[in-house]
Amino acid sequence: MSIVTIEEAVRLLRDGEVVSLPTETVYGLAGRIDSPAALEKIFAVKKRPFFDPLIVHVGETEAARALASVWPEIYDVLAREFWPGPLTLIAKKTPMVSPRITSGLDTVALRCPAHPLALEVLKRLGIPLAAPSANRFGRTSPTLASHVENEFAGEVPVLDGGPCTVGVESTVLRAEHDGTKWQVRVLRPGGVARAQLRKVLDDEGVPYELTRESSSASPGHLPAHYQPISPLILLSKQKWSHEVQRQVEQHLGRPLHGANEIRLATTAQESARVLYTQLRETSSDANHALWIERNDARAGEEWEAIWDRVERAASLVL
Ligand code: TXA
Ligand code: MG
Repeated sequence: MSIVTIEEAVRLLRDGEVVSLPTETVYGLAGRIDSPAALEKIFAVKKRPFFDPLIVHVGETEAARALASVWPEIYDVLAREFWPGPLTLIAKKTPMVSPRITSGLDTVALRCPAHPLALEVLKRLGIPLAAPSANRFGRTSPTLASHVENEFAGEVPVLDGGPCTVGVESTVLRAEHDGTKWQVRVLRPGGVARAQLRKVLDDEGVPYELTRESSSASPGHLPAHYQPISPLILLSKQKWSHEVQRQVEQHLGRPLHGANEIRLATTAQESARVLYTQLRETSSDANHALWIERNDARAGEEWEAIWDRVERAASLVL
């Protein structure tokens, strides 16, 4: 049985094991940051390449500051507003952060998750936890404990915290002062939308410029990612047809025996919450396609994280 109690989760983590923990975004695969064995196991279990750095999870802002050699003032504003929550801040690291976590970069990704069980584990353990999403590399992130159990065939202990309420990963950003204002760069769109960031920075009177950085700026944020077993096809303003199927079969180099539509929910928030469950549960085999229609009803900045994930999960965009 791979479901564990909170006491067992804390004991296993203390002993340098990896445990899957619930967060408000997706389930993570956690290990203590000061255990080389635990860090190695995270990469081994996920089959994750070492060039893809991990996010360090902390129970409070003070613990994040302690891991940063430089803590930009603007992070106090952002942490006060969005932590605990789906925002990851990139800062220059101290030597306390192993290069295994950062893939040799001199920066570290820091986040205080909002799930009560994750916070309780961090508090009881008293040590920050490195945790990527609890899926095999390149696959869809898990938003239920059962997703993690299926992904790793029961081989990883899981603390069941119910369904994730946000449903897509945290927003990753980096801020640097250019002498006159803060350059805030979103490296990965996620649970905190750009409008929410703007509102807080405007309200606080912080001078800033907010931009979206190309994905290559976030190491490991590869074009192909989040992929379900069934090939996902993103259709722009068209529905599945014989002609579409012909093009997809040609692209894949194999015949398909059918296709199912994934209908996004009407609000961005609800779409994010259910997207990964839809991808997992509608996905059946490699010869059955999934398709999503992109249309004007679901456009604009608040949909940014959803379309980012759909584009990366897609085998083909038509
Ligand atoms: O919501 C989340 O962020 C989830 C939960 C478990 O907290 N975690 C998550 O981790 O999505 P992961 O490993 O799947 O994605 C972490 C991303 C990486 O793709 C990487 O691009 C970025 O964070 N990252 C980590 N360290 C970085 C750094 N020093 N500089 C730039 N990007 C970094
Ligand atoms: Mg991931």
